[in-house]
Amino acid sequence: MGQDSDLVEHYGGAGLLAAIEAGLSELGRSPQTATLEDLAPVDEFHIGGRSATVELSQQLGVSSQARLLDIGCGIGGTSRFFASTTGCEVMGIDLSPTYVDVARTLTGWTGLSHLVGFEAGSALELPFEDDSFDRAVQLHVGMNIADKAALFAEIARVLRPGGRLGVYDVVRQGEGEIVFPVPWASDPSHSFVADGEEYRLALEAAGFEVSARDRRRFALEFYETQARRAVESSGPPPLGLHLIIGGDTRLKLGNLRAAITGGVLAPVEFIGSLP
Ligand SMILES: C[S@@+](CC[C@H](N)C(=O)[O-])C[C@H]1O[C@@H](n2cnc3c(N)ncnc32)[C@H](O)[C@@H]1O
Repeated sequence: MGQDSDLVEHYGGAGLLAAIEAGLSELGRSPQTATLEDLAPVDEFHIGGRSATVELSQQLGVSSQARLLDIGCGIGGTSRFFASTTGCEVMGIDLSPTYVDVARTLTGWTGLSHLVGFEAGSALELPFEDDSFDRAVQLHVGMNIADKAALFAEIARVLRPGGRLGVYDVVRQGEGEIVFPVPWASDPSHSFVADGEEYRLALEAAGFEVSARDRRRFALEFYETQARRAVESSGPPPLGLHLIIGGDTRLKLGNLRAAITGGVLAPVEFIGSLP
């Protein structure tokens, strides 16, 4: 099996839509009444969930006239967030055809299909013309992609002059082993975590001017809040990342949290601006 199909298999997604519908029903909601806030605990598949997306969005200056590309969009929570808060047009692309199907359905449920579309495809071979987008975002995707220089060159190709890219990825910050599984990889064969300097160099080589913001403290605070909530509740919430990550959710999230607490990994935001 190729690297891409291994990765699609890692992310899975069979039965995900039915599980989301069942979770909504537990909350007293349905596909007809589901809101973006209802879905955020399951469709924002990155550390800090919706609040991380909000903070990234504040640095991107997305107007209602913009076209935004969401690279490795998963089931589309970030794409829908940008469209609903700014009125911009969004295209999400993801390697997983299953995720793309779920993304399209959730977007229909929340009445955003006129602004948000999805396509299955690779970030390394974007099926778009040069200069097609004003803004791009990439949340927790780079850890699956070995060639960061090729990735950012491809994103720069489809962005217009003056375009801006917001990356929110997990990077290496210190010595120490990454214990698998983690949410993006069951084993080291499809994990390509790089350090912040490698990101900066790859972004600069693609023509971006770069700024970076360390989000380790934000992640640790998020984990503390989650731990407090877990103590107060009797089990997982009706909608949560366990639906998308699957049976070994606790192990994967626990390994990631331990690596961040131990100073091995940390989430970092990079904002890349094209001249
Ligand atoms: C951890 S999930 C994050 C999803 C989404 N960005 C979010 O934050 O909710 C990583 C996603 O990246 C996608 N992905 C990984 N490598 C990719 C590639 N080369 N091209 C497109 N998508 C990719 C995976 O299929 C998966 O949906």
